[in-house]
Amino acid sequence: MRALEAACEVDRYLGEAAMSHDELAARIRGMEALISVLTDQVDRAVLEAGTGLRIIANIAVGFNNIDLAAARERGIVVTNTPDVLTEASADFTWALILGITRRLGEGERLLRRGEWKGWALDFMLGTELRGKQLGIVGFGRIGRAVARRALAFGMRVACSSRTPREDAGAQAMPLDRLLATSDVVSLHVPLTPETRHLIDQPALARMKRSAYLINTARGPVVDEAALAWALRERLISGAALDVYEREPDVHPDLLKLENVLLAPHLASATVETRTAMADLAVRNVLAVLAGEPALTPVALPDS
Ligand code: NAP
Ligand code: GLV
Repeated sequence: MRALEAACEVDRYLGEAAMSHDELAARIRGMEALISVLTDQVDRAVLEAGTGLRIIANIAVGFNNIDLAAARERGIVVTNTPDVLTEASADFTWALILGITRRLGEGERLLRRGEWKGWALDFMLGTELRGKQLGIVGFGRIGRAVARRALAFGMRVACSSRTPREDAGAQAMPLDRLLATSDVVSLHVPLTPETRHLIDQPALARMKRSAYLINTARGPVVDEAALAWALRERLISGAALDVYEREPDVHPDLLKLENVLLAPHLASATVETRTAMADLAVRNVLAVLAGEPALTPVALPDS
């Protein structure tokens, strides 16, 4: 903030809840730069109001909250925060994988209800990961960082991306085969028209009954109603989610199920990583306002 305030006049939003679309459209007038977060819908209407805008610096690696075509038409640079959050997000993905396969959330809920009767040989048994297959959908920065950690847990890795890539010992395969053969499926694709509801009812039905689904990507990549159905019918064993279709709301059926672990969009939430993300966004703004190239520009779509 100090670097920003030394270089420009700053209008800082201090509200606890996300800024409303109308307030964003009103406050953007006369601004040259916008530092946004993923709850800000920077759509065509906002960009039409922000006639002086030169840069939108999103504090997130995902940028599905920004209308890139409208930004390109206006010559506005869009930046995100890749790399600085990769390791924290991969660590958190593993927290979810371990949490759901070893029934941590379920165990904690039972204990807090005062229902624990003590140690028993067959009480709340989970599933081991060693020797099993981790399927990674979207083998980019975070997907690959998740794969690297799999070796420590003795898992083999399968991956599927539009551009086939095999590294970190991962075997590339089509999505259908990955879904049918993996014991844990972890999603790491961006939210695009192509990935919306990528995991729908037929995709869930393709998974093993013993498998787990992990989503730290974006909520709409999974059809939440279909997921609740699959969990209820035990078509899959469990799911762990960090992201939701209509945040901060969670599908009410998911809230009733024991075989799902729910986190409130925390994958990059460490002091170190969030500081690095904010710092990168500020450096992008200062660069563009100084007439220099942005550090981490998002590729804008062709017209
Ligand atoms: P990235 O490096 O761009 O990786 C995304 C990967 O997905 C790329 O390898 C891309 O490869 C692949 N992909 C894109 N469209 C696809 C499709 N239709 N089918 C299969 N693969 C596809 O991005 P990242 O840094 O790893 O981040 C990934 C996403 O995680 C972000 O976009 C964000 O939404 C989410 N995220 C969430 C949190 C959180 O707090 N929960 C934190 C960080 C990131 P190809 O284009 O070659 O296929
Ligand atoms: C978080 O969800 C991000 O995209 O950085």
